[in-house]
Amino acid sequence: MRTNGILSSICLCFLLTQVDALQHSKFKSIDTQHTNIIPGRFLVEYTSPGGHDNSLSDALDGFESSSKTAYFNRQKQTNIRTVDVGASSHENFLSTVLDHERTVAVYPVTYVSRPNAVSHGYYNQIDAETTERIQAHQLTQINRLHGELGLTGQGVKICIIDSGVDYNHPALGGGFGPGYKISFGQDLVGNDFDPMSKTNVMPADGTPPLDDCGKVSEKAVGHGTHVTGIIAGVDESKGFTGVAPNATIGVWRVFGCEGGSSSDIIMKAMVQAQKAGCDVINMSLGNDAPWSEQPHAAFAQELSNQGISVVVSNGNDGEAGAFTVTDPAGASDVLSVASVDNPHFLGSLFSLTSASKKIGPYSYQVAPEANAEIPDGNLVLGGSPTTFHACDIENIPKDVKGQLALVTQGPCTIVQQENRVAEAGAIGLIFVDTLEGDPVRAPYFNTTIPIATISSVSGHQLISALKNSNETMYMHFERNAFVFQSSTANTVSYFSSIGPTNELDMKPSFGAIGSNVFSTLPDYLGGWGTKSGTSMASPYIAGTVALLREAFAGQNILASVLHEKLANYAKPLDAAKDQLESPLRQGAGLIQAYDAIKEPLHVSPAKISFNDTKSLTDVYKTHSLKVSNTGTEAVQYEITSISSASISPYGHNNSQYRLISSSHEKFYSRDVSVQVDIQPSRVQLNPGESQQVVVSVQLPKEFNAKEQVMYGGYVQFRREKGDGAQVHVPYFGVLGSLYELPTMDSGALNVKDDKGHVYGQNETFHFSLSDEASAPSIGFRLSTPSRRFTIELVQEEGEKHVGYIVPTYNYAERDLSSQTMKELNPWLGTLVVDENLDSKPFTVSPGIYRIKWSALKMFGDLEKSQDWVVQTSGPIDIAA
Ligand SMILES: *[C@@H]1O[C@H](CO)[C@@H](O)[C@H](O)[C@H]1NC(C)=O
Ligand SMILES: *[C@@H]1O[C@H](CO)[C@@H](O)[C@H](O)[C@H]1NC(C)=O
Ligand SMILES: *[C@@H]1O[C@H](CO)[C@@H](O)[C@H](O)[C@H]1NC(C)=O
Ligand SMILES: *[C@@H]1O[C@H](CO)[C@@H](O)[C@H](O)[C@H]1NC(C)=O
Ligand SMILES: *[C@@H]1O[C@H](CO)[C@@H](O)[C@H](O)[C@H]1NC(C)=O
Ligand SMILES: *[C@@H]1O[C@H](CO)[C@@H](O)[C@H](O)[C@H]1NC(C)=O
Ligand SMILES: *[C@@H]1O[C@H](CO)[C@@H](O)[C@H](O)[C@H]1NC(C)=O
Repeated sequence: MRTNGILSSICLCFLLTQVDALQHSKFKSIDTQHTNIIPGRFLVEYTSPGGHDNSLSDALDGFESSSKTAYFNRQKQTNIRTVDVGASSHENFLSTVLDHERTVAVYPVTYVSRPNAVSHGYYNQIDAETTERIQAHQLTQINRLHGELGLTGQGVKICIIDSGVDYNHPALGGGFGPGYKISFGQDLVGNDFDPMSKTNVMPADGTPPLDDCGKVSEKAVGHGTHVTGIIAGVDESKGFTGVAPNATIGVWRVFGCEGGSSSDIIMKAMVQAQKAGCDVINMSLGNDAPWSEQPHAAFAQELSNQGISVVVSNGNDGEAGAFTVTDPAGASDVLSVASVDNPHFLGSLFSLTSASKKIGPYSYQVAPEANAEIPDGNLVLGGSPTTFHACDIENIPKDVKGQLALVTQGPCTIVQQENRVAEAGAIGLIFVDTLEGDPVRAPYFNTTIPIATISSVSGHQLISALKNSNETMYMHFERNAFVFQSSTANTVSYFSSIGPTNELDMKPSFGAIGSNVFSTLPDYLGGWGTKSGTSMASPYIAGTVALLREAFAGQNILASVLHEKLANYAKPLDAAKDQLESPLRQGAGLIQAYDAIKEPLHVSPAKISFNDTKSLTDVYKTHSLKVSNTGTEAVQYEITSISSASISPYGHNNSQYRLISSSHEKFYSRDVSVQVDIQPSRVQLNPGESQQVVVSVQLPKEFNAKEQVMYGGYVQFRREKGDGAQVHVPYFGVLGSLYELPTMDSGALNVKDDKGHVYGQNETFHFSLSDEASAPSIGFRLSTPSRRFTIELVQEEGEKHVGYIVPTYNYAERDLSSQTMKELNPWLGTLVVDENLDSKPFTVSPGIYRIKWSALKMFGDLEKSQDWVVQTSGPIDIAA
C-alpha cells in the first residue's frame, strides 16, 4: 500500500493545471508544497506606467472579477495589486500578465492561518481587585501612564485586523460608527468565509465588522473581541481599563467564524486601514515563510516607512525551537511582540469529599453555558475503568445517570463525549485536560450539559480515588473566580515564538504580558474571559504605542524613534538560574512604558545582529550606536555588556541539523565566552548632545562551529548618578556559518516504490508509464531554508536537463517537523519546462534518467555553482 505523502492527489491536480505558468521566472512561489496556494487569485507587482502605456493596467482590470482591488507602491517604484480572476480564466491571465514587460512579479495568494490563542475560562462576575491583579498594568508601567500622565490614547487611531468584534459589548462602546469607540472599518469576509473556496459570498462594501458567530458556529472563540478589549475596553464596575481606553478604533474583519484567511484579503485590510488614517495597525501576517520579498511583508515595511506603527504578534510556535518567528524578515521596522507570562491566572476552586477523605481544592475552568452553571453532585467515571473516556457508548457506566461524569481525552472530541454522557443522563462533564500545569483550557461552548476542565494532576488524583474506593464522592464547586499565583511569572511564555529570522535579523522586538489575559468576549461567550497567546501581547503593544504617540503628539518625533524608546527601556527578564533570557526569545525584554516616555537617554539602533561567522566582516563585526540626551539635564552613563543565555538551536549532536524543541535540555547551550567591546565605556552628555558608541564582538579563539550556538546579550547603559532607569540594547550572533549547514536532508531525498522500498544509487527503478502502480514516489526535505529549490529529471548519461518534476520553489522554508517526509506520491511521469509559457506539462518519453535535487545554500549566490547543493538518484528506467 502506498503511504500518503504530503502532496495529496487533489493538490497535485491543481498543481498540474497551473504548472506551466508557475514555472515562469516572474512567478514567485513561496510554498514548497503548494498546498497553501489559493487558485485564481494573485498579487501582481508591476512598474508604474511610463508615458501612455496603460496596457497592463487595462489588462489587469479586464481580468478582475471583483471591484475590491487593493493597490500599494513598493518604494515608490512598483505597484502591487490584488487580482481576483475567478478560477476559470487563471491560465489565460497568467500567460498574458507574466510576459508583459511591465510585470515585475506575480505572487500566488496564500492561505493565512487563524491566530491560535488558547481560551481558558469565562468570568462575568469579577471585582475590581481581581481585575487589577490579573491585568498586570503595573508590570509594564501602563498604570503610571494612565494615572500620573493621564494618557488614554485620546486622538490616536488604532486599526485592528482580526476576526471582527462584538461592538455591542458595553465595555466596547455598545455600538459602531462615528461617535462610538469602534467608529470605522468593515467586514471583508462575512461569517462563512472559506479562503480555499471559489464560491464565497462577500459582504457588501461598508458592512460593519460584527462578530456574531454564536448563531452559526460552535467553534468561534471571539478572538477579535478579546484583543479589542485589551486595547480599549472599559468597564468601571469590574475596574477594567484597556491600555488605550480613549483611542479611536477601526476594525477590519478578515477571518470568518472558523478557519483562515488569505494574503490578498489581509492586504486589502492593510490598504484600507492606511487610507483611513490609522496611526497604529495591529495585524495578523499569518504563517508564511519569513522572507523579506513577500508582498505583504514589503507592504508592512512600507507602512512603517510612512510612520505608521505596525504591530504583529511573534507567533505561538516557540516550543518548536528557534527560527519560529512568523513575521517578515525584511520588514525590520515592524514591531514583533513576544509573550511574557502573567504572574497570576484566574480559576475557580472545586473539592471532592467522601466519608473518609477530602481532595482539593484545585482549580477548574468552565465552558460558557448561557444559562447553566456546573452543578455540585456525585462524581463517577464517565467511561470504562481502563480507558476513562466516553467515546464508546457501550463503555459508559449506567451509574452516570444523575451524576457528574469524569473523562479524559479519548479518540473523539470533548463535545462528542459530552453528547454521549448527556444522553446517558449525566448532569455535567468533568474533563481532565492533557496540559500538565494550571490553568487548563476551556472547551467549546454550546453543549447540552455543562463542562468543567481540570488539570491533569488533579484529574489523576480523582481517577485513582474513584478506582480505589466504593465510597460516594461528592464534588463541590466554588462559584467565585480566584486569583492564583503562576509558577512561571515574569518569564517568556513557553509558546512564544523564537527568533532570529532566516536572514539573521533580531526578532522579536520586545515582550508584553500574553498569558492568562483577561478581556472582553462576545455576548455569545458570556462577555468576559481569559486567553493566552502572543495575539494577546501584540494588542497590548498596539495600545502602548498609541499612548506614546499621544505623549509625544505635536513634537514631530518619528514613529521609529518611539519604537526605539520602547525597546531601549524594556527590562530583560531572566531565563533559569539567574541568567538573562536570550534576546531571541524576549527581544529587548518586557516593556516599561513610563521609562520609555520620561527617561532622557535615547540609543539608536535599538538592536544588533552580529550575523554568523561567514558574514562577520567589518560590516557586521562593529556596530555604531548613536546615543543622545533628549532630556533637560546633563547625564552620565557607564556602558557595559552583559551576556545572556546562549541557544543551541540544533542540539549538540545532530548531523541533520533538525531544530530541537525549546523544552529540550540541550536547547540552552553551555556558556560561550564571546567578548563584546564598547568604546567609549562612559558617556557624558549635555541636553541635546549626541555621541557615537562603537560596539564590536570578539569571538572565542576556539569554538565548535558545528554547534551553531547563538550567543547573545545586552549592551547596558547604567546611569551614574541618581536612580534613572537603565537602557539595554540586545545583541546576538551565531558561532558558525549558515552557509555550512546541510541544506537538504540527504536521507529524505529518495525514490521509493509502492511497497516502500527505497532505491539506492546502484539500483535501477523500473517505471512503466502505462502502469500507475509502478510509479515512483519522490521524497524531499529541506533542513535549512533555501531561496531556490528544484527537483529535475535528467538524462542518466551526462545528466542533461529534461524537465522539472515540480515547479521551482522560491524562498522555501525549512521543513520544521522533523518527522514529516515530503514526497511526491506517486510521480506519474509529468514534467514541466522552465520559463516557457507556450508549453504545457508533458509526459516524459521512455528512456533512462535520474532525479536531481538542487538547493541554494543560505546566503549563497544563485549564479555560483559552488553555492548549490546537488544530489542525484540512481537510474530510473522509464518504459511506455
Ligand atoms: C448548538 O447545539 C444545538 C443542539 O445540538 C444545535 O441545534 C445548534 O445548531 C448549535 N448551535 C451552534 C451555533 O452550533
Ligand atoms: C477618557 O476615558 C475616560 C475613561 O473611560 C473618561 O472618563 C474620559 O472622559 C475620557 N476622556 C476624554 C477626553 O474623552
Ligand atoms: C494583532 O496581530 C496579531 C497577529 O500579528 C493577532 O494575532 C492579534 O489578534 C492582533 N490583535 C488585534 C487587536 O488585532
Ligand atoms: C467495591 O465493591 C465491589 C462490589 O461490591 C467489590 O468487589 C470491590 O472489592 C469494592 N472495592 C473496594 C475498593 O472496596
Ligand atoms: C547577514 O549576512 C548576510 C550575508 O552573509 C546578509 O545577507 C544578511 O542580510 C545579514 N543579516 C543581517 C540581519 O544583517
Ligand atoms: C550522538 O548521539 C548518538 C545517539 O544518541 C550517540 O551514540 C553518540 O555517541 C553521540 N555522539 C556524540 C559526539 O555525543
Ligand atoms: C555503486 O557502484 C559503484 C561502481 O560500481 C561502486 O563504487 C559503489 O561502491 C556502489 N555503491 C553502492 C552503494 O553499492
